[in-house]
Amino acid sequence: MFVEEGNKYLIGNYARYPVSFEKGEGVYLYDEKGKKYIDMLAGIAVNTLGYNYPALTEAICDQAKKILHVSNLFYIKPQIEVAKILVENSCGDKVFFCNSGAEANEAAIKLARRYFYDKKENRFTIITFEGGFHGRTLATVKATAQPKYQEGFEPLPEGFKYANLNDIESVKSALDENTAAVMIELIQGEGGVIPAEKEFVKELYTLCKEKGILFIVDEVQTGIGRTGKLFAYEHFGIEPDIITLAKGLGGGVPIGAVIAKEEIAKSFIPGTHGSTFGGNYLATAAAKVVLQEVLKEGFLEEVEKKGEYLKKKLKEIGLNPRGKGLMIGCPLPEEKKASDIASKALEEGLVIGTAGGNTLRFVPPLIITEKEIDEAIDILKKVID
Ligand SMILES: Cc1ncc(COP(=O)(O)O)c(C=O)c1O
Repeated sequence: MFVEEGNKYLIGNYARYPVSFEKGEGVYLYDEKGKKYIDMLAGIAVNTLGYNYPALTEAICDQAKKILHVSNLFYIKPQIEVAKILVENSCGDKVFFCNSGAEANEAAIKLARRYFYDKKENRFTIITFEGGFHGRTLATVKATAQPKYQEGFEPLPEGFKYANLNDIESVKSALDENTAAVMIELIQGEGGVIPAEKEFVKELYTLCKEKGILFIVDEVQTGIGRTGKLFAYEHFGIEPDIITLAKGLGGGVPIGAVIAKEEIAKSFIPGTHGSTFGGNYLATAAAKVVLQEVLKEGFLEEVEKKGEYLKKKLKEIGLNPRGKGLMIGCPLPEEKKASDIASKALEEGLVIGTAGGNTLRFVPPLIITEKEIDEAIDILKKVID
């Protein structure tokens, strides 16, 4: 019923599974027939605290009884509180809020350009990496160096150049006097859960510092504890100039954010950029709880530990995991299609994702337990066999 109606009334830009969920509890989802699923996808790395997490549900309900939204014409208390937590726990100084990952990256691109405009330097080009993913707006599609996302949407904005991940020479070739910034996912998510090498990131960072190029890290998928640190950049011994966030920050409530160093942030003066909904009461009341929980003593260590456990279990069933914390991908041989395995797993009550390069993707709620991981692996083993 919902399949026919959905196909009738919704624009068909998603390849949807014929399933509709009605409720969730912890790491479990229930469809409208009451069938139970264990969720290793978390709304694609969004539902940090799983479903119906008491403190989050309560904060959202309490906030709804007071104010959902006013406008950024006014100071919004939970927005300021979330900004404070982000600044105190990152290398950045100031925060801008929006509603999604694409918007966060769009804002970061604008901020980088405006910074150099203010400095009266003719720098506007952003270097991004083949296989990356930065969003679906025109600028972020152009930043996404993958033809399949760009085809048919030309003309796309100018001012982007591409380099190869883990290849510093390719970055050097892409650089010129107009380069404003590099923008990188430290683990490419959509591209197939492909980690950047530490040495490469350090070299890239040093190169940027030498040349006065801004270092933007797209932490839309890797941020908020996903990799076992609050931000993935912490694994690399670097301090980005700009960090973009979304997905896990709101635990399921739409929110995006840009954290920037003071000197750069000050280029966004009144009138330069904005968002009606960005950082509203509802979204930031949720984000505040997510951050408080993720920053509780031991939480991030647990993510790291559970990530190692999941990797070990995936190896035991013959898969070849890569990634960090609870952001793990398993590339499959050509004869096994990741999308077929994900569909079969769903039939068996396991929600998993896929990513580029025929990869299975595991980005469960960060609250998952080892016992729940075992349960998911048992289903996966059956499906793969
Ligand atoms: C690294 C990265 N950047 C940006 C985006 C775009 O985020 P959104 O879909 O919220 O616009 C995504 C989404 O998958 C992402 O993984």
